[in-house]
Amino acid sequence: METIDYGTFEATLERSNRLEQALHRDPGRFRALTGDRPTGRLHVGHLFGSLENRVRLQNMGVPIFVVIADYQVLTDRDCADDIADSVYQLVVDYLAAGLDPDNGRTHIFVHSHVPELNQLLLPFLTLVTNAELSRNPTVKDEIKASGRQHINAGMYTYPVHQAADILFCKATVVPVGKDQLPHLEQTRTIARRFNARYGVDKPVFPEPQPLLSNAPSILGLDGSEKMSKSRNNAVMLSSSEDETAAYIKTAKTDVDRLITYDPVGRPEVSNLLLLLSLCTKKDPETLASEIGNAGASRLKSILTEALNEYLRPLRQRRSELEQDPQLIRDVLKKGTARARDVARETLAEVRQAMGMAYGVDQGDPQ
Ligand code: TRP
Repeated sequence: METIDYGTFEATLERSNRLEQALHRDPGRFRALTGDRPTGRLHVGHLFGSLENRVRLQNMGVPIFVVIADYQVLTDRDCADDIADSVYQLVVDYLAAGLDPDNGRTHIFVHSHVPELNQLLLPFLTLVTNAELSRNPTVKDEIKASGRQHINAGMYTYPVHQAADILFCKATVVPVGKDQLPHLEQTRTIARRFNARYGVDKPVFPEPQPLLSNAPSILGLDGSEKMSKSRNNAVMLSSSEDETAAYIKTAKTDVDRLITYDPVGRPEVSNLLLLLSLCTKKDPETLASEIGNAGASRLKSILTEALNEYLRPLRQRRSELEQDPQLIRDVLKKGTARARDVARETLAEVRQAMGMAYGVDQGDPQ
């Protein structure tokens, strides 16, 4: 088998920019798929990093599937604590941020309820090597971060499962962050190998392309590399205005009173300026010079006000949605039914291509 070529990040970025232009020209020609692990509520890092980008694609007219990858949660923990609540809260966050399944083009579904995905997983597993699975850089990082001695096989194989999430609907565009690029390259390789082995005359899968969001990544309020709920350094979409103020008050800064934008030399102050810039749509340098010598406490109070104002409509929708469990269930029910219809068709095609359509299943030709 050919080896996986991850290419350079610059080349991926350039392809992603070209893809963005093509999407603008003819959004209806594409199908996007993206998703999240349901591990709790979302925070402002998710909002600026991925959610707003999805909503933007949706509103441009791109059909989009969003997978809630519940099985993936089990790769680095033993039980799915409160998984149902996490799934529920995730859908609330999605809808509050502007994903709109009523448009008929946006479908939100749960992985565990589309059994055809698991049936695609088995043939896909025969198209990858053990060496590829253990070399995946994102999986390696996650193994390290888990701090566990015994790593389950799901940790190594979930990128193949993820390939099934993406390929079942023949997605052509996958909006992702940088850390997901190895998984996407694995997915592209599986699509290529499947077509080469079983679809020479009639390729079954397109090779999906990554679409990188151009939103910069947000650091934690403690200055650590990533905003995350488990590190307790995040402003949650569901936080109240007072909680938001209290969090921002505790944010790490430095001793220099003059506020300047310098992401390398002053990451913490710059991160606050970046958040302020995302809320106000002014550039961070201008904001820094407006604050000048007033210091970090002034920066924090301006940011608190701007962020609370920015999030107010979203939070308002959020609290209304939270009161309506039936609506959330309906969204998932419809999205999952739609995903299953599409997955059934693809599975039938896969069986046909593999010579395994024996005429014993409703999807098989008679
Ligand atoms: N692995 C992704 C994460 O941890 C979640 C995910 C599952 C996903 N399936 C996907 C992302 C398909 C993009 C496409 O965030």
